[in-house]
Amino acid sequence: MSTEQSTSIFAGIFPSADQIPENAKLDLPIKQSQYLINGEFRTWNGTFTKIYSPVYLKNADNFEQVLVGEIPHYTVEEAMSALHAAVKAYDLGRGEWPTMPVKKRIGCLINFTEKMKTKREEVVRLLMWEIGKSRADSEKEFDRTVQYIYDTIDALKELDRTTSKIQKEEGIYAQIRRGPLGVVLCMGPYNYPLNETFSTLIPALIMGNSILFKPAKYGVLLINPLQECFRDSFPAGVVNMLYGDGKEIITPIMESGKVDVFAFIGTSRVANIIRKSHPKPNRLRACLGLEAKNPAIILPDADLEIAASECITGSLSFNGQRCTALKMIFVHESIAVPFMDLYKQKLAALKYGMPWSEKVMLTPLPEDNKPAYLKGLIDDAKSYGAQIINEHGGDNFLSFNYPAVLFPANEKMRVWHEEQFGPVIPIATFSDINEPITYIQNSNYGQQVAVFGTDHDKMAKLIDPLVNQVCRVNINSQCQRGPDKYPFNGRKDSAEGTLSVQDALRVFSIRTTVAFKDSAINRDMVNDILENRKSNFLSTDYIL
Ligand code: G3H
Repeated sequence: MSTEQSTSIFAGIFPSADQIPENAKLDLPIKQSQYLINGEFRTWNGTFTKIYSPVYLKNADNFEQVLVGEIPHYTVEEAMSALHAAVKAYDLGRGEWPTMPVKKRIGCLINFTEKMKTKREEVVRLLMWEIGKSRADSEKEFDRTVQYIYDTIDALKELDRTTSKIQKEEGIYAQIRRGPLGVVLCMGPYNYPLNETFSTLIPALIMGNSILFKPAKYGVLLINPLQECFRDSFPAGVVNMLYGDGKEIITPIMESGKVDVFAFIGTSRVANIIRKSHPKPNRLRACLGLEAKNPAIILPDADLEIAASECITGSLSFNGQRCTALKMIFVHESIAVPFMDLYKQKLAALKYGMPWSEKVMLTPLPEDNKPAYLKGLIDDAKSYGAQIINEHGGDNFLSFNYPAVLFPANEKMRVWHEEQFGPVIPIATFSDINEPITYIQNSNYGQQVAVFGTDHDKMAKLIDPLVNQVCRVNINSQCQRGPDKYPFNGRKDSAEGTLSVQDALRVFSIRTTVAFKDSAINRDMVNDILENRKSNFLSTDYIL
């Protein structure tokens, strides 16, 4: 710690051990030595990886980073054992899980969810300690995930009802249902280590696939309490955990050619590396949520109060560590000064502190290299003419980074192009609306945009070019993923595939048809199968 740092006003945010409130206490560190493979807990005797918190604790003369715990560092042997368990459970589509009636599968998932709900407080506390997410947002992440599971169950029942009938076209009867794809590798991001991972894992699971689940790099110990819920709710081998270094263990798993679906939320760089190691790329289905650089466009007629408030939450919720965060703000030159004044005023009012502090918005960052990365972005922007226009902007103390508002941003700066994924807010002015439109057209990303204005005709004219560049145009509202029943997707390098409660069921399954020509023999046989419930697939039963 430099002398400059030790006198920082932000040094005061880190508490001493006796200042941790009751509702944040956890018995740390947690040594996780059990891991779930093939329906059983195995005990880890190998090397462990230490997991540190973004929170430091003040002691007599220094600050010490909290050790949250340790997780197994798999070798290739355990990774392949997890893969083999998943392959065996699927058994080329003949396993207990992929052939189980949908109603029974739903029963297993309900059982899991009931058990998961009992772990809420433990998971919420781990979210705070592991990734620095505020208590309110951590609770929201947990509850949103539970709701996502219930909504998924309802969507599956609906899908099951609509596919339970037998159709007849051109003299051929058919029952068309959705079947599983095989082994799904699920990898999620650290910013939503529970919710985003489960937004692929749960639909993949309920459609009858078997799962290899690699938790995110940060936000990994919070999955530990859920391992026993998986073990006690699903047949052996249906959910298998992967712990360790992705570079070491994911490559051999993919090289085996035995993964059928790659569900990944993270960077396009890592997604490309992993995908390329599969020997049969045509067989591998991918569902990817990648980077984004969502801009806000503030028109001259915008309601400044709404624009500034939405841009604050849009750019700084969870310190800007959201793929949907506003990462570039374009404001019309005629209102730039009042907009920036209001934005800065609102920013100055945001509470900073520990994740458990009431109403806190700005908290320490979990990635150890992030402060240096953000400083690099800020220095680069300054070298091309930007200034930090807010008081304390860019100040850093250990893992805490106070937001830096950079103005004026231009295309020479890295922050113009790179996804900062942190508390740095570049602002640029425009005189012609084609300037922000061109920015979006030239961007590598195409997830969402937020447009602020009150003129109906101008807004209508802007919507039409924008909907063909991004996948969601938000009017006078920040960008966001939810509600989870709406499509969440992106163009260009931002995503592959569409996720929503309903879409995800389709992503992790394939339409499969049983067809028969209209003849007495076939009618007799199918009637017998249906009436005596001899098949789980060829069945007109449906679930209410
Ligand atoms: O990190 C990307 C998340 O999907 C964003 O979700 O808009 O609900 O924060 P959110």
